[in-house]
Amino acid sequence: MDNNFKLNKNNIGNTVELKGWVKKSRRLGELVFFDLRKEEEVVQVVVDSKSKFYEIAKKLRSEYVVSLKGKVVKRKEKNNNIPSGEIEIILSDLVIINESLQTPLIILDETDALEQKRMEYRYLDLRRNLNQKMLKQRSNFNKLIREYFYSNNFIEVETPIITKPTPGGAGEFKIISENHKGKYYSLVQSPQIYKQLLMYSGVSKYFQIAKCFRDEDSRADRQLEFTQLDCELSFTNQEEIIDLTNNLINKIIKNFGYEEINKFIKIKYIDAINNYGTDKPDLRFGNEIYDLTNILKETPIKFISDSILNNKKVKGIFFEGNLSNSEIKKIDETIKSQGSSGLSWIKINNNEISGSLKLLSNKNIDNIKSEMNIKNNGTIFFIIDENLNSLEYAGRVRLLVAEKLNLIDENKLSFLWVIDFPMFEKTDEGKIDSLHNPFTSVKEEHLKEFKEILPSDENNVLKLLSNSYDIVLNGTEIGGGSIRFSNSENQRKSFEIIGMSKKVIDENFGWLLEAQNYGVPTHGGIALGLDRILSILLKKNSIRDVIAFPKSSNGLDDMMKAPIKLKEVK
Ligand code: AMO
Repeated sequence: MDNNFKLNKNNIGNTVELKGWVKKSRRLGELVFFDLRKEEEVVQVVVDSKSKFYEIAKKLRSEYVVSLKGKVVKRKEKNNNIPSGEIEIILSDLVIINESLQTPLIILDETDALEQKRMEYRYLDLRRNLNQKMLKQRSNFNKLIREYFYSNNFIEVETPIITKPTPGGAGEFKIISENHKGKYYSLVQSPQIYKQLLMYSGVSKYFQIAKCFRDEDSRADRQLEFTQLDCELSFTNQEEIIDLTNNLINKIIKNFGYEEINKFIKIKYIDAINNYGTDKPDLRFGNEIYDLTNILKETPIKFISDSILNNKKVKGIFFEGNLSNSEIKKIDETIKSQGSSGLSWIKINNNEISGSLKLLSNKNIDNIKSEMNIKNNGTIFFIIDENLNSLEYAGRVRLLVAEKLNLIDENKLSFLWVIDFPMFEKTDEGKIDSLHNPFTSVKEEHLKEFKEILPSDENNVLKLLSNSYDIVLNGTEIGGGSIRFSNSENQRKSFEIIGMSKKVIDENFGWLLEAQNYGVPTHGGIALGLDRILSILLKKNSIRDVIAFPKSSNGLDDMMKAPIKLKEVK
């Protein structure tokens, strides 16, 4: 995979023919020096005024493309930073293949170009060393994945990208048909249904490096178009899929220079939420959330006891180490801007208590310290809100404080599996929806209840647990999957619970329910977000940094200028 010149002092005396880009050229008295670049390598070329190529060499500017012949000689002043630092080339032929205008960005790793400029001229941005390297790392990453699945007897099947629009799910891109006037297709959000159909078709082990499309807001870890490693197996179970993924992860991280993981941690969804306030906790640091509601029922601070009487919960997180009051205020402002009613805190310094809740009684403090197992000085942060809100904001505070206190080891990889997710969730709009997807089966022990439950019995619907699992790396969800329904009655019930009428089910999924009546194997799988995994392994800030041609942070193609207005389509 290495197309560099690979020149070093062992080549001294050789005649070489090279083609590449002029990285930079300079004149020193009667000499022209220029650096020739190809992919990640650079070699110095020197031309003196007696050479018949001197006049051409004088014309060279950065990013000119040239072809040359020359002799490798020892260089006087060594550059120990590059493999070709001990040699240079004396020219015997030089042809300019193409000239270049002055580029709008400097083609160096430490370019000062803004992201928008880099995206507008992505083909220049990609010439930078770090991006050449990234493209190779991504290619190697895909190769490892393919090798792993082939060696485990999976077959790679390409599934359609153009598909049928379905109700619900993430935002769908619509494709208007010219041939079928007034009709449209949609782009697949994932190969989910097709991979299930492959199982129905008798395929035992499928995988694919698949493009997925979702018309959603872009974020650092979200693109409109992203890549999944998608797989599905028949006659499988959760443990087999988790083991298969763990072994793949170990193969990948080892190749990227990290230590293999001996034991992948597994926690239940409910414990993730209660202890970390999120279903994707970052476990590179501890600092769990504690429920202090019972302890603080009796307290001299009236707004706390009143809040508890009004059914609110008090959550606490302890950190050794102190933030300044102004840093705490910033965190308070951040969570307030996200909808929280705010943050309270105390600082413990031996027997001295300060902070916004310094009027807590000694008994309150002693009980809190014993509940939270606090032995040292530090700060306790308190969040008081409805149960789920208090946890969510405590989870955010946990992250913000850890960042401020530099508790996050950037060189650490912290994987964990989250299991036992609920089947359904209540959306912000108050609607019942599938937490993973409507094809995810219910846990065996809840099957009877699931079959009998009325879709209107929201309380109990929300208690049903599913056979789904997520894998989290450093606080980012890097994959998720489930064991699916393989029976049409249960599948129909799942659609009914998320509010689809019989008509909607039959119109949209009648064919799927019919398919499930022709002998379907049990099956399940997982999809890993490849952009996310690679960006974390390469310590990049955004998945945009590991995608050849990403969309900008607001979902635009800054180079081609897409999207365009509908009437502009010719
Ligand atoms: P899910 O929707 O959880 O599951 O997606 C699987 C993984 O894909 C990644 N991902 C994304 N990466 C970048 N940009 C996005 N917009 C984006 N959305 C998701 C995440 C996520 O964990 N068909 C099911 C999987 C299954 O059940 O087998 C699915 O697509 O890392």
